[in-house]
Amino acid sequence: MLTHIRHILCGLSAGLLTAVAMTAGEVPVYLDESRDIESRIDDALARMTTAEKVAILHAQSKFSSPGVPRLGIPGIWTTDGPHGIRPEVLWDEWDQAGWTNDSCVAFPALTCLAATWNPETALLYGRSIGQEARYRGKDVILGPGVNIYRTPLNGRNFEYMGEDPYLASRMVVPYIKGVQENGVAACVKHFALNNHERNRHTTNVIIDDRTLYEIYLPAFRAAVKEGGAWTIMGAYNLYQDQHLCHNSRMLNDILKGEWGFDGAVISDWGGTHDTAEAITNGLDMEFGSWTNGLSNGASNAYDNYYLAHPYLRKLQDGTADSRVLDDKARRVLRLIFRTSMNRNRPYGSLCSDGHYAAARQIGNDGIVLLKNDRKVLPLLTDSPKRILVVGENAIKMMTVGGGSSSLKVQREISPLDGIRAAASTCNATVDYARGYVGDVTGEYNGVVTGQDLTDSRTPAELIAEAVDKAAGADYVIFVGGLNKSAGQDCEDADREALGLPYGQDAVISALAKTNPNLVVVNVSGNAVAMPWVKEVPAIVQAWFLGSEGGNSVADVLFGKVNPSGKLPMTFPARLEDVAVHALTDNYLGTKRPDSDIWDAEYKEGVLVGYRWFDTRKIKPLFPFGHGLSYTTFAYGRPRVDRKKLLAGETLTITVPVTNTGDREGAEVVQLYVSDVKAPVVRPAKELKGFSKISLAPGETREVSFTISPEDLAYFDAAAHQWVTHPGKYQAHVASSATDIAATVPFTFE
Ligand code: BGC
Repeated sequence: MLTHIRHILCGLSAGLLTAVAMTAGEVPVYLDESRDIESRIDDALARMTTAEKVAILHAQSKFSSPGVPRLGIPGIWTTDGPHGIRPEVLWDEWDQAGWTNDSCVAFPALTCLAATWNPETALLYGRSIGQEARYRGKDVILGPGVNIYRTPLNGRNFEYMGEDPYLASRMVVPYIKGVQENGVAACVKHFALNNHERNRHTTNVIIDDRTLYEIYLPAFRAAVKEGGAWTIMGAYNLYQDQHLCHNSRMLNDILKGEWGFDGAVISDWGGTHDTAEAITNGLDMEFGSWTNGLSNGASNAYDNYYLAHPYLRKLQDGTADSRVLDDKARRVLRLIFRTSMNRNRPYGSLCSDGHYAAARQIGNDGIVLLKNDRKVLPLLTDSPKRILVVGENAIKMMTVGGGSSSLKVQREISPLDGIRAAASTCNATVDYARGYVGDVTGEYNGVVTGQDLTDSRTPAELIAEAVDKAAGADYVIFVGGLNKSAGQDCEDADREALGLPYGQDAVISALAKTNPNLVVVNVSGNAVAMPWVKEVPAIVQAWFLGSEGGNSVADVLFGKVNPSGKLPMTFPARLEDVAVHALTDNYLGTKRPDSDIWDAEYKEGVLVGYRWFDTRKIKPLFPFGHGLSYTTFAYGRPRVDRKKLLAGETLTITVPVTNTGDREGAEVVQLYVSDVKAPVVRPAKELKGFSKISLAPGETREVSFTISPEDLAYFDAAAHQWVTHPGKYQAHVASSATDIAATVPFTFE
């Protein structure tokens, strides 16, 4: 055995030489997998030069950061996120690298996941996408997103989990666990208060603490404290006049202080603006900055990042504290040890049958049946049926577009493909009419769909063709909605209005007049206005469903799957009914004179989504939590184990639910709580529990919910603590925010 001593010279830059003695044949502590991670980090840190510590804090390419090559510590590869693994781009640019082995499975958008109200489905989602990331050599998935749905105009709502902090919390935790089981970090984004896209770099959110803690932080908190997220991404916008990628209150006080986050804070791409703030205000890793050099290709571009040479210079001249540097480097090393340096992580898999099956299952679980008069659905194919499909979204690829979540898929089943495949196995024929022309382009960042959707006919000609064909059909299925083009469901812009674009309302109304068996399938990640709601017997909310989208839609339409999704957001009848828009003419806020900054005040406070509709008694188009089934459910009388709840105790409510129809189905049983006489303004009720149960025809099952005093609390901003006041409360067992089956009063003393 070799016994001689080798000296490793550590670091050659800036006179920061250190040397560590290592005995050949001995495993250094940082490489010794039998040791705990913290001891290994201590050892690695002790061996690193200042320059090496700084180097791991910023990007070396569009999506990667270096490790410590001298010590054999690997770097980190990140990827979008959150619906599939983004295709490879060039080292320094957004353009495609042109690889032919970087196609993925697209999973349904996170709004669909939220609509499943099924934490097990979220675990399946996280596991599956984590495996794809792992196979593609990625260490961090830039997702999931849990910004609260505040306005239906937000172009990025489709990447988030709806309007309720409790629902988003319950769904984000298993997603993260599933991803991280693979030795891949989830990067929860965009922390925080990134609730619309326009002016996203210059919006300063003004919000009271109670609203912050009750509405906008809980899902992030759950992601950190329960999900154990290894990274979190700062948002582009500002809060308290500081960018959220280096925001002292949000990152130092709340995230790392109150919640004890031990992972790394990653900037959004180009979200870093200042070295001093980045150093002191909690940022750990900087990505996507567009500093001198990068735009014209100078080789030192990454050295110009705020957390690169400018930071090093401050350390050298003594204006930056080395303890802060060590904390950042420690967090990044922790990330590396948990991911790229974890030799025990699984290998993952890409485009596997299992992943396609998972994508289809998530879609099946999340599609929401909004309306089904005369039981138009499921399609009856006992005798020969002619089905007419109308609409651009029946044929348009939806996995390309939308911004950073755009994907290059191995395959995508369109609704028309899915319907045709299902029809071929039963007594049905399928015809198609375009109906309207929306956006015929099909390209994002160099990924092209290859579809030629051009159609030069006028709207009148397109409607005439659709109506003509509809007259001879047994069923008409209109597939429309939004798409992922700019100004629709797409990053970096918001929608202009609640209504459907491209004249779709006129097409739907014309079809409704022609054929009574009209089904509207709305593909979107946002609520849309439905002025024709009374004219159409059946409406299906289909979300962006990814690779297996068309199969999921067909599974539900043909009844292979009994729909069980519930809305994770309120569908308003009018935009003015939404709190934000009721309280201000311009949700973007007010532009400061002589500055680019827009102050956006969240005037509605905690009354977001159904909390506003319920409290103000405004009738929504479709309420939060709404979703029908092909079977029916009856709720029995709930029982409580006590009527008086004391501190330290819990109260259990049990309700029997019966499937009263003739086919198997799943119901999401919801529990809301009201504070009858609150000392502060409180929403009429708030979601505090839910359970998705599957029932055979005639079967009854009991669902139990536990309520603790903490579930009744509101955030007292002055005292900076959660407070439960004594008094009267009500628990509501419900099948949606407006469909309450039973109310149970109780007191807290
Ligand atoms: C988006 C992030 C994304 C990043 C990297 C940004 O523009 O806001 O969500 O992860 O780009 O693509």
